[in-house]
Amino acid sequence: MSATVNRQILLVEKPSGKLGPEHFRMIEGPVPEPKDGEALLRVRYISLDAANRAWMHGATYRAAVEANSVMAGGSVAEVLASKTPGLEAGDLVFGDTGWQDYAAVAAKHLTKLPKIEPLTHLLSVYGVAGLTAYFGLLEIGRPKAGDTVVVSAAAGSVGSMVGQIAKIKGCRVIGIAGGKDKCDWLTSELGFDAAVDYKDGAVFKALRAAAADGIDVYFDNVGGDILEACLALMKNYGRIACCGAVSQYDQMPSAHGPRGVPGLIVVKRLMVQGFIVTDFMGRRDQAIGELQSWVAEGKLKVQEDVIEGLENTPRALIGLLAGENRGKRMVRV
Ligand SMILES: NC(=O)c1ccc[n+]([C@@H]2O[C@H](COP(=O)([O-])OP(=O)(O)OC[C@H]3O[C@@H](n4cnc5c(N)ncnc54)[C@H](OP(=O)(O)O)[C@@H]3O)[C@@H](O)[C@H]2O)c1
Repeated sequence: MSATVNRQILLVEKPSGKLGPEHFRMIEGPVPEPKDGEALLRVRYISLDAANRAWMHGATYRAAVEANSVMAGGSVAEVLASKTPGLEAGDLVFGDTGWQDYAAVAAKHLTKLPKIEPLTHLLSVYGVAGLTAYFGLLEIGRPKAGDTVVVSAAAGSVGSMVGQIAKIKGCRVIGIAGGKDKCDWLTSELGFDAAVDYKDGAVFKALRAAAADGIDVYFDNVGGDILEACLALMKNYGRIACCGAVSQYDQMPSAHGPRGVPGLIVVKRLMVQGFIVTDFMGRRDQAIGELQSWVAEGKLKVQEDVIEGLENTPRALIGLLAGENRGKRMVRV
């Protein structure tokens, strides 16, 4: 191996307010040596996820990211050298390599990936984003043909696929997104039936007009005021799939929850369930097979937003939280 320098991006301080470039610093260190049970990886594409910011608040389904450590993050990486029987040089894996060029990671924390082209699809439609949309909608939301399905952060990586899968299942789909351009894109390119721009005034009023008969399934990526508006518009026996709360990530958590909890949940007999995509990983291959056939048939469009260069990773995350991205954002290292 010729390279000796490993560029790494550290989280130097945990933000108390909005995340900014001052919270990160790039350093150079040596390329690590893999120990027994580990593989040395060359990071190819780093996944930018709204959850990266949530990890800074404290422990969740994973340990909190701490100041003065390499910023955590999943990536598609290539095995350069292996000290573990299940992996060999040239294999592709997904794992939490962090924001750096090289990482030595224990094989038990890596998922071997199929050789699918383009490689970027392993982070978007066949990665966490696509699988979250697939399992969250179909297993938690359980839409039936004819249902009205609403999804928030609808132009993002998870949301854009949730809406398209709901269309494939014969539902009427309403997306909620920030800005007219994103809303136009949802209806003209992705086939959503309607889109609501939550930055353009009263979201409840616009949503009530778009979902005049009420909502059967709400796929919640954002929490906060949008969850409150959807709760009030749910039909009896509706389902809410709680996927994330991006409206709360880049600030201190709100002191008050959405109104209507638990009153509306009771009177409307709602099923409200959170999930983490890893709960479903035993069925990953089946899901990827179905997603592949929808992509091949042209029923599922894959939108990717690839930023060049490890040094731009902090900027890419800050921009994602501000709504710069359409579809799956990632950094090519
Ligand atoms: N449960 C799981 O296993 C799982 C797995 C993956 C992701 N997730 C969750 O899925 C959600 C989407 O994550 P992602 O990584 O795919 O990001 P993403 O949707 O690609 O990007 C985040 C989007 O959120 C929107 N947003 C930002 N601030 C907002 C606010 N205050 N109110 C409403 N929308 C806001 C922005 O779009 P606009 O321009 O529309 O504002 C932005 O583009 C997150 O909540 C994440 O935590 C959950």
